[in-house]
Amino acid sequence: MSPFLWGVATSSYQIEGAAENDWTAWEAAGRLKSRGKRCGVATGHRERWRSDFSLLPTIGANAYRFSVEWSRIEPRPGHFDADALALEVERVDWLRQLGIEPVVTLNHYTHPSWFWDDGGWENRGSVERFGRFASVVADALKGKVRRWVTLNEPIVLVLGGFLAGWIPPGRKNFAAAAAALENLLLAHAAAAAALKERDPSARTGIAHNMLEFAADRPANSLDRKLTALGDRLYNLALLEAIATGDMAWWFPGEGRADFRIPELPSSNDFVGLNYYSRVHLRFGGPPGPIGEFYYRDRERRGLTDTGWEVYPEGFDRALKRSAAAGRPVLVTENGIATSDDARRRTFLREHAVVLAHRRAEGTDIEGYLNWSLIDNFEWLEGFGPRFGLFEVDYATFARRRRPSADLFASLGRSFASDDVRERARSGG
Ligand code: FCB
Repeated sequence: MSPFLWGVATSSYQIEGAAENDWTAWEAAGRLKSRGKRCGVATGHRERWRSDFSLLPTIGANAYRFSVEWSRIEPRPGHFDADALALEVERVDWLRQLGIEPVVTLNHYTHPSWFWDDGGWENRGSVERFGRFASVVADALKGKVRRWVTLNEPIVLVLGGFLAGWIPPGRKNFAAAAAALENLLLAHAAAAAALKERDPSARTGIAHNMLEFAADRPANSLDRKLTALGDRLYNLALLEAIATGDMAWWFPGEGRADFRIPELPSSNDFVGLNYYSRVHLRFGGPPGPIGEFYYRDRERRGLTDTGWEVYPEGFDRALKRSAAAGRPVLVTENGIATSDDARRRTFLREHAVVLAHRRAEGTDIEGYLNWSLIDNFEWLEGFGPRFGLFEVDYATFARRRRPSADLFASLGRSFASDDVRERARSGG
């Protein structure tokens, strides 16, 4: 039995900032929802990655999820940058020296600008492109990385980027969304195949964002029906596709996408779960959309600085439901945006209790990665929301440890000792 993974997650753009990618172009075009806020070099992590990684052992982490930036590695189609690849090797080697298991994300929302020139994910050619990128990264990191997240939150990317138009590429078209979803999942399978071909012990998965869904007016049957449909679309459809290979994705009032990818089950060795909050759905009449979602503070825990509800009960259900896909669950993200660190400590404790209870009930969970190590650039909101166990002073880029970093370390120790007990019980 390998030890329970305990650590934190980040993504390249959010801590390293500008690159030749779609988000940087989006920002330059003034299309960021967080108007006037620019990501720039984000937290200055690009110069500080060694010292940032050195924080990991101090919070009791034995794992770290981070993303490689496709646009730096492949600045032009088919041209791979040896220095960019060497840097990733150096980072992984440094993590290993620190005793930290790397969990590498190949795609965390950003794409090289050139990727969209011929349609990006709407074009079937994207599958081969992403597969080739994965092969090059796999060759560079061969034998050094065992756990891979191919895609971060493909459903969110499709909803936000192809239906709502909030994030790049800013499309609002169901046919585009349906094509993108199929190509993304094919690209996941192609990347997983490339990784496993080079290292048969490679374990591949997708980080899937799950939300708890509730009817805004529980007595209203249309709110309830819409909630059930939203839950399928957002949470369950991908889990079913991972389990069976069949995707049935129906967006009420827009259309449906049905397709089969036979390689999906074998290309998902774990389910990556990103869990943050609960949403309430309310049916809406014409001329507006068919429904709207709201974050409510029904349990009086207070909304977070991103306006999200804190709802640990939903974490329990998300863990159970993701495990039902028949694979171990790796919590690839969970966290809170707050400038009040006491609230972060409460959040950590509540979610750790849920996690420990789920494990005690026998759910197969291989680790927990908190979002995030340090404060960072939040996609739609800029630098306001503070997610870090370490605070970033954006004037000086100094890192300051928050008290929740100590709590995180001590919670990690209790999960580690559970592991020891479990091993003793199973004679391992
Ligand atoms: C997740 C994203 C991650 C971060 C958190 C707050 O959905 O994957 O990059 O922004 O939300």
